[in-house]
This record gives sequence, structure tokens and C-alpha cells, in this order.
Amino acid sequence: MPQEIAVDATVNTQAAAATARADFRNAREVPRVKGEPPIIGSTIRFQSDQLGFVTGLQRDYPDVVKARIVHEDWYFVFNPAIVHEANVRQWSKFHKPKIAKTIWKLFLGKGLVPNDGEHWRRQHDLIKPGFHRQRIDAYAPAMVEAAHEKLAQYRDGEIRDVREDINAIALAIVGKTLFGADMSDATSTVYQAMHNVSEMLVEHINLPLPTPRWWPSRGNRRKIDAIEAIEGVIKRLIAERRASGVDGGDLLSHIVFVKDENGVGMTNTELRDEAMTLIFAGHETSAHNMTWCWYLLSKHPEIAERAYAEVREVAGDRPLQLEDLDKLEFLNKCIKESMRLMPAVWTYMRSPIEDVVLDGYFFPKGSTLFISQYALNRDPRWHPDPLTYNPDRWTREYERGLPKGAWVPFAAGPRVCLGQGFAQMEMKLVLGTMLQKLVPTLEPGFEPDQIPELSMHPGPRGMKIKVVFRD
Ligand code: HEM
Repeated sequence: MPQEIAVDATVNTQAAAATARADFRNAREVPRVKGEPPIIGSTIRFQSDQLGFVTGLQRDYPDVVKARIVHEDWYFVFNPAIVHEANVRQWSKFHKPKIAKTIWKLFLGKGLVPNDGEHWRRQHDLIKPGFHRQRIDAYAPAMVEAAHEKLAQYRDGEIRDVREDINAIALAIVGKTLFGADMSDATSTVYQAMHNVSEMLVEHINLPLPTPRWWPSRGNRRKIDAIEAIEGVIKRLIAERRASGVDGGDLLSHIVFVKDENGVGMTNTELRDEAMTLIFAGHETSAHNMTWCWYLLSKHPEIAERAYAEVREVAGDRPLQLEDLDKLEFLNKCIKESMRLMPAVWTYMRSPIEDVVLDGYFFPKGSTLFISQYALNRDPRWHPDPLTYNPDRWTREYERGLPKGAWVPFAAGPRVCLGQGFAQMEMKLVLGTMLQKLVPTLEPGFEPDQIPELSMHPGPRGMKIKVVFRD
């Protein structure tokens, strides 16, 4: 290295270290929620109404605030600049928090979502090419077909739970495209198991002292049964793929046959964990977003009819196809706006592995950062008239004008959702197909609940619709 470059590098490193020291010296402490009771802290308020609690905090503490949840301080972040630092600029100083790992351990093991560090990097690099645009594009016909198959069961005038139907469509899509399998036999097993797992995982957050796995409680038995049910389906699919030795173009083929730079593939445990992760991350998230979008379209018939008119102009009555996607601009805005107002993935968490300063605030090593898309997306500082469903707001200028970190439906930075392109395509094709056939209509008098579990969903009463065919 020429001497002057070496000297420059030393000077730069010293300057960076000096800036970092100054950042720490000048850093502000994150305020604590006022009037928080000792010991239990904000636990009960949080557990009894998570959405209300988080949006209430945001009103009173627009940057960031800490609150005691169970036995530790959680940092509720509302300032997009802090979110951006954690996601992008200082991402490598963050891991998933302990609570997320504990919650996921039984279900996802060391799959991509809860994983961190070197092992996450290896798995991420192995899996990412499986989400290559060309591979995803090839899934369009299967997505449309899955929607048509479900809609073929509809009868004019009947009342249905569209959440259950959209979940079944999304699961069929994951089955065909990611696992190359017809999962219709397994749909109810996986649906029920997912429901049980989701409920149990949230109970786990809400219990100050969760029962250990070996404890033969009814809850534990139900959780283990639910996980084993999904695991059974997945292990069968992995064994079939290994035995066939054929890359069927689906993601499972990719992860079964891919090798790292040392020529080493994934172990059976790694395959199991990643497949569980894909089945979980790959269907409930988009299914619940589509469910909320259908709800909002039902509540706004004039917007629904504009979206329908666009689909009709682009495709008439024929099945939607890949080439139509770019032309469905208004439908795209309707989906984006429903992900803003009713985001199924309403929160995610991060934990710094060393002390950090983010946008001037100090966060200690091991603390838990609670980032809530639900709160960010309803902040009137970035979204005027935030409670109004207004797809037209999503012009290019509007999106460009949002501060970095304010719009993170799929997170951002290296830990961004791997299935973003897949999900965006799926939501457009499925909702577009539904619009071709149906006028979005809720059951008269029906209003859904809003349950913020792992993803935000309408709860056990579902999303009741009345089937109204376009003739
Ligand atoms: C609208 C639907 C979806 C939304 C809103 C969404 C959102 C997210 C978010 C916020 C994360 C970051 C979570 C965290 O860091 O804790 C994430 C991660 C992930 N998502 Fe999605 N997701 C969606 C659909 C999908 C689909 C369809 C797939 C797969 C086919 C998928 C696969 C993944 C994976 C593998 C990760 C982990 C990435 C990593 O950490 O390396 N997601 N998603």
C-alpha cells in the first residue's frame, strides 16, 4: 500500500473513533414512561391493549421512550431516523432480541428469521438466489390458479370467512411455488397448527414465567402437537425432494441442492428450520395483508370499483398474468395503502450487541428495540390524515418525500424481507383475480376484530363477507 494511502486510512480511522467517542459523550438518555408503577412497570397496560399502548406512547413521546415490560426495559422507537440507523447504517451491531429467539426456538429453530451472525450470513447467502426475479416470475400462473381454484367454490349470496379462504390460497401458493407440492390435503393441518402456534407464541410473551418445554401442561402439549404437525408435512416434502434428485424450479429444490463455497450443503436440521421459516413467513403475512386489503376495499366501494376498472381494462375476463403486473398501478396503491393503515406485520424487534448511539440517543447493549410499522404508518408527521384509506396518496413524490425509516413494511437493510418481491406479486395477482370475480362486500353489519399477534389478524370471528359475483 502506498505510504500516503496508509496514512490517510489511519487518519480516517482515528477521526471515526473520535466522532464515535463524541457521539457517546453527547448522547441523550431515552426517557422513561412517566408514572410507570415499580416492578410490573407497563406490562399489564401493554398486554391488555398492545396497539393502543404503542400508539398512545407515540403520541406522548414522538422520538423514543422506554417502558418496563415483564422484567426488562423495551425501547419503543417512533423516530424514523433511529429506525434507519438500526436497520441500515448500524445494522451489524444488532441481533434479534432474546425474547424473539426464545419465542421462535421450538418452531423455527435457527431459520433465517430468528438467526444472527455468521450462521445467518451463510444461510442467507445460500437461500437468497432462490428468490431470484426469474424464479419468482415463473410462479405467477400458480398464484392465479390458486385464487381461481378457491373462487370456484364460491356460491352467489353465501356468507364466507375470507380470511380463511385467503389463507388457504396463500398456503396453496406456498405449497406449489416454494415446495413444488400440492398441499391441499395438508391445508387444514397447517392452518390449524399455525393458529395454535401463533396463539401459544403470544401467550409466551404474555406469561412472566413460561412453563418449560418438558412440562406436560395442556398448552405445551398443544404447541408441540402443532409444531409436529407442520414438521411432519415438511419432512415428507424434503425426503421426497432428496430422493427424486430433481430441481423442480421451486425454492425447496434450491435449498435442498445448493452448496456453499466449500461444496457443503445444508444439514437436515438446517433444511427443516429454513423450510419451517418459509412456510411461516411465506403465507400468513401476505394472507393477512390481503385480508385487510379486501376489508378496506369492501368499506370503500368507490375505490374498489376504480381498482376493478383498472383490472378489467388490463386483462378483461382472462386470467391475470405476469405481464399485467406493471400496469396494475392503482391496485398496487390500494395494497400499499392497506399495508400502511392495517399492516399485518405490525412490529419487529432488534437488540444491539454493543452499546450504540442512534440519532443522538443512547441504547445499552442487550436492550430491546420495538419498531412498530403500525405506529410509524399512522404518524401524522409523515402521513397527513393518517386514518383515512387513501390509495391516491402513493404518488412517486409522496413516497420519495417520506423520511428514511418511516416506511418499512418489509423492514430494510441486510435483514430486509427476502420474500418482498414474491409477496408483492402474489398480493396483486390474488386480489386482482378476486376483483375480477367479486364485488368486495362484507356480511351486513359485520365488523372484524383486530388482534395483534405475530401478525395482526381479525381473530376467531374471521372476516365475514357476502359473496356478490360480478355477472
Ligand atoms: C406482505 C407480506 C410480507 C411482509 C409484510 C413481510 C415482512 C417481513 C419483515 C418486516 C421481515 C423482518 C422481520 C424481522 O427482522 O424480525 C421479514 C423477514 C423475512 N421474510 Fe417477509 N414479509 C412478507 C412476506 C414474505 C414471504 C411471502 C416470504 C417468503 C416467501 C417471506 C420471507 C421472509 C424471510 C425469509 C425473512 C427473513 C430475512 C432475514 O432475516 O434474512 N416474507 N419479512
